[in-house]
Amino acid sequence: MTASRTRPRTREASVPRATRPARRAIAPRSSAGFAGGAGSALSLSGCSSLGTGRLSPGPGPAAKERTRGGGSVFPAAHTPGVAREKNDPGAAPATRLALAQRALWEAEDVVALGPPGADVARLGVGAAWIPDAHERAAAKGVAVGGVAYAGAHEVALTYLPKGTRRRDYVLALACSVAPRVALVGAKKGGIKPGKKALAQRGTIRATAAGAHCQIVVADVEQVEAPALERWESRFEVEGLEMVSLPGTFAAGRLDEGTARLLEVLELPETGRLLDVGCGAGVLACVAKRRRPGLEVVASDADDFAVESTRRSAAANELAVEAMGSDVYANVPGRFDVIVTNPPFHRGVGTEYGTARRIAREAPTKLRRGGTLWMVANHFLPWGEVLEESFAEVERVHAGRRFKVWRATGARG
Ligand SMILES: C[S@@+](CC[C@H](N)C(=O)[O-])C[C@H]1O[C@@H](n2cnc3c(N)ncnc32)[C@H](O)[C@@H]1O
Repeated sequence: MTASRTRPRTREASVPRATRPARRAIAPRSSAGFAGGAGSALSLSGCSSLGTGRLSPGPGPAAKERTRGGGSVFPAAHTPGVAREKNDPGAAPATRLALAQRALWEAEDVVALGPPGADVARLGVGAAWIPDAHERAAAKGVAVGGVAYAGAHEVALTYLPKGTRRRDYVLALACSVAPRVALVGAKKGGIKPGKKALAQRGTIRATAAGAHCQIVVADVEQVEAPALERWESRFEVEGLEMVSLPGTFAAGRLDEGTARLLEVLELPETGRLLDVGCGAGVLACVAKRRRPGLEVVASDADDFAVESTRRSAAANELAVEAMGSDVYANVPGRFDVIVTNPPFHRGVGTEYGTARRIAREAPTKLRRGGTLWMVANHFLPWGEVLEESFAEVERVHAGRRFKVWRATGARG
């Protein structure tokens, strides 16, 4: 260890437009059958946007029955003015393509499954992503997982998630809720292999491209809702059993940067600790195991990560509170210690904005005398960013690949 001070154009569909699919008979399922089952906090919201909506005026009997079955966790964001726009310049490219090609997937009853950032609400078929969907659902006493899936839908409009395992999980989910799946995603985000994966589940009936994205519509074999437990990866860190759900950071192993941070991390016996961007909860769980007197909170913008952390904590009987949050937005109170291995990717691109916010806004979440610990790839300039917000910034590890920073004396 070293220590040193520093200062669309949208093309037409390539095959004929889809017509409304005939509804298939699908056996009813209980909510317990979905995504982890009853008692599991992870819902289909883990996808993470989710909503259902009718695209024709007025609900029919089937929709009414579904609503009675549980009510929606997600407030209806049916905004016809927006939904009817062919091209919404404010929408993300995948959403723009979906809007431009809505004839391919439009049906009486559409469920939308989207990752964070997919502005499902613009499609008029659902609500925008809610980071704390689990908490809201729990507060309302709604059985998460049974909401959008308490009946069969005609079409599952599905945003392609990042990562093969999450894609496969989300496709299985989509195929469990609708006989027709419309998969939309960026060309650089893996839509080609996504199309192949979809083709294995049924018959491709239409494709269209635009805005550097593609939409693929297939009639699929209906499957049972995938049991999330079967999609877990487990790995060990300091004798703890960590649980990682599909697409959660580090894919079922200890990340090297996280390991470096754990080697040098110094913790108080008591006080409050926040692991921001917690992934599977490695930092949070190890901190709680090392210092049982600490109150440990973990947060992540990704529902799969939040649920992974909950499962990791439960597997080791550790009291760690995990919550969905964009950086500090939903995290209440201040902390004596903040630990982070911040993200620097979004989708397939590099993104430093979140790490910068974690560093810059940390003073607003730290108690007097509190410390921020941060690990990053050696080439990232976080030392200088931290110096803007902290009086004391120390590089406590400088290895070939990673640096670890300790910052105290929050300014402001
Ligand atoms: C490099 S991983 C670190 C995961 C975990 N702390 C570890 O060390 O294994 C960064 C995490 O930040 C999360 N993340 C990305 N954007 C975020 C945001 N805006 N707010 C909170 N967390 C975010 C990602 O989902 C990911 O789990």
